[in-house]
Amino acid sequence: MYPLRRNRRLRTSEAIRSLVRETSITPNDFIVPLFVVEGKGIQEEIASMPNYYRFSLDLLVDEVRLLWKMGLKSVLLFVKVPDNLKDNKGTEALNKDGLMQRAIKTVKDAAPEMYVMTDVALDPYSSYGHDGIVENGKIINDATSEVLAQMSVSHAQAGADMVAPSDMMDGRILYIREALEENGFTDTGIMSYSAKYASAFYGPFRDALDSAPGFGDKKTYQMDPANRSEAIKESLMDIDEGADILMVKPGLCYLDIVRDLRNEIELPIAVYQVSGEYAMLKAAAEKGWLDHDAVMMEQVTAIKRAGADLIASYFAKDVVRTIS
Ligand code: PBG
Repeated sequence: MYPLRRNRRLRTSEAIRSLVRETSITPNDFIVPLFVVEGKGIQEEIASMPNYYRFSLDLLVDEVRLLWKMGLKSVLLFVKVPDNLKDNKGTEALNKDGLMQRAIKTVKDAAPEMYVMTDVALDPYSSYGHDGIVENGKIINDATSEVLAQMSVSHAQAGADMVAPSDMMDGRILYIREALEENGFTDTGIMSYSAKYASAFYGPFRDALDSAPGFGDKKTYQMDPANRSEAIKESLMDIDEGADILMVKPGLCYLDIVRDLRNEIELPIAVYQVSGEYAMLKAAAEKGWLDHDAVMMEQVTAIKRAGADLIASYFAKDVVRTIS
C-alpha cells in the first residue's frame, strides 16, 4: 500500500517550490509611508520604530531618490506639525505653503514619476489630536468632511496623485470626490481607509507625529475590532462614493476582513501594516527571539495571500533588500 497522492513531491526542491508558489512579493506591492518634519539636515529616528525616521525636506530628497532606485514607486506622506500651528479646525492643513504641500512638491522634484499619496485627516493638525473638529467633546462629522475635501484639493494643487483619507468620517469620500471634480482634478485618486479599526497598534505612529488624542479615544469614528460585516458595509459605501482603492488597517489581525472584501469587491485593496506591527517585530528581533527577515517575509506574503494588492509598510525597504 502507498498513498495515492504525495503532496510532498511539489516541495522537494526550491526550484519546484518556486514554480508552484501562489503568491510572490515584488517592489510593486508597496507604498512607503514617510514622516516629514520642518527644519534642515534632520533625519531623526522614531524611538518606538527602530530604523525608521522623520526627514526634513532637504533629506527627504535623498530618501525619495533612493526609494525610486530600489523600485519603490509610491510614497504616502505624513507631516509632523509644530504645536503652535495646531488648532481645532486644522487651519494649517489648508496652507498652500504648509509642510505637506511643500513635501509633495519636494518629492515630485526629486523623483517626478514617484506616485505621491497624502494622508488626509486632521489629527496631525488638531490641538485635540483628533481626526475631526471637536465640539463639546464630540467629533463633528460633516464640518470635518468639508475641511477634508478642501485639504484634498490643496494636496492635489500641490501635485499629489492620490489622497488617502484616514479619518473614518461618514460620507467624506463623496465630499472629497466632488471637491476634486469641481476643481478639475479628475485624475486625482482616492485611497479610502475604508475599514480602519480603533486599534491599539497605532501607538508608535502617534509617537512619530506627536498626534495622540488629547482626550478620550477614537472609538466613535474608527471601527470596533469585533466587527466583520460592518467592514463590508463601510467599503461598499466608499465604492459608491467614488473611492479608487480601499484599505484595511491594521494588517495581520484583520486578514479575515481582507479576504471577505476580496471575495466581495472588484477594486484594488490595500493593507496598512501599521506602526505597532513594525515595532513588535523589530523589538523581538532585537532580543534575538525572532528571525527578522524570515518573519517579515512571512507577514507580507500572508497579507498578499489574504487578498491584498498593495501594502503600505514600514518594511518596504527591508523587503526589497531581502528579495533582491
Ligand atoms: C491618523 C492615522 C493613524 C495612522 C495613519 N493615519 C493613527 C490613528 O488613527 O490614530 C496609523 C498608522 C500606523 O500606526 O502606522 N489619521
